[in-house]
Amino acid sequence: MATSIQQYVSHFDGIEGLKKVETSIPSPGPYEVLVQIRAVSLNYRDMEVINGEYNHHKAVNQGSEIIPCSDMSGVVTSVGGNVSKWKVGDRVLSTFVPDHKTGQLTQEALRSGLGLLEPGVLATYRIFKEDALIKTPDRMSHEEASTLPIASVTAWMALNGLRPLGQNGGKGEYILLQGTGGVSISGLLLAKASGAKVIITSSSNEKLARAKELGADFGVNYKERPDWENYVMEVTYGHGADIILETGGSETLSKSFACAAYGGLIYCIGYTSGKIQAAGDQPNVNVMAISRCLTLKGVVNGPTDRFEEMARFAEKHQIRPVICKMFKFEEVKEAFRYMRAGSHFGKIVIQVAQ
Ligand SMILES: NC(=O)c1ccc[n+]([C@@H]2O[C@H](COP(=O)([O-])OP(=O)(O)OC[C@H]3O[C@@H](n4cnc5c(N)ncnc54)[C@H](OP(=O)(O)O)[C@@H]3O)[C@@H](O)[C@H]2O)c1
Repeated sequence: MATSIQQYVSHFDGIEGLKKVETSIPSPGPYEVLVQIRAVSLNYRDMEVINGEYNHHKAVNQGSEIIPCSDMSGVVTSVGGNVSKWKVGDRVLSTFVPDHKTGQLTQEALRSGLGLLEPGVLATYRIFKEDALIKTPDRMSHEEASTLPIASVTAWMALNGLRPLGQNGGKGEYILLQGTGGVSISGLLLAKASGAKVIITSSSNEKLARAKELGADFGVNYKERPDWENYVMEVTYGHGADIILETGGSETLSKSFACAAYGGLIYCIGYTSGKIQAAGDQPNVNVMAISRCLTLKGVVNGPTDRFEEMARFAEKHQIRPVICKMFKFEEVKEAFRYMRAGSHFGKIVIQVAQ
């Protein structure tokens, strides 16, 4: 058993400012466990955090440094005296906002977010409260499972978050995914396992081909076909997309309104093409929402009960998360540079220990 923790620290000054530091391993408190972290997956948010750009949540009041990243899979190596949920050797997954247990997120719960405001998981060991973890699905490697907490839970919430807990749907629905990053590819796997029909956009024909190998029914290159919203209407015979995982933001939102089905759901998730400006010449999206009876719903990940629901579903359907590239713990900066370049398909994972 190691006697020290290796961990990365960011001062919000970009990739090159990341520093690896060593500290001693603490003992878990009565309701805590010590976890040896085996794999960490990267999210768009982690890049924003280390660049000092994650500033749109009012609840966030960051200090001067942070251990980045929130998504890990690892093994319990010691437990506090009152811990009943876990034992040494259990494989466990982090939850992004541990205090968000069920229902609607609150500003207070958001403060428990890993990798801001709470220390993150880009480390060899970390202490967790026992109720801040869920079981790692048996069929998945640590690397695969580490991709679930943010990307897959968020996609799951888009697909099922407005349905009653435990009553998954999606059969026959048209699901639109934007780009081929972590959320979209997780959404592709979950939507196809639910029996939905998937339309995906990408800037790369090669990535579209890979998405089709994973089951996407339709793919459109948004660079070659800037009116991809018309493509969506064409392939759905004028129906439009029932659920849109709106990850694009400024360049995609008005197009999403134009290709949503009547009564459809635009699940407002992200802004890979930029944040939406409130003023200027933006189309009047609220009028479009009213006239087509749409709901535009924002999301910050999802609660623990939905995570467990999604993990059970992934286990049942033998879903194997898509890992684009793995990096060693010493190669964290290369991993972030790779992410910044945007050539990834699915998830990027740091192998912290084998
Ligand atoms: N609200 C939440 O709880 C939540 C949770 C997770 C993520 N997010 C947000 O969702 C977004 C996606 O996150 P992620 O982790 O999946 O990111 P990611 O893995 O870094 O995905 C990046 C991908 O976005 C695509 N993209 C870039 N510009 C685009 C455009 N104009 N139109 C369509 N796609 C475009 C690209 O796909 P191609 O290379 O195929 O073109 C790129 O590979 C981010 O803004 C993130 O902050 C929010």
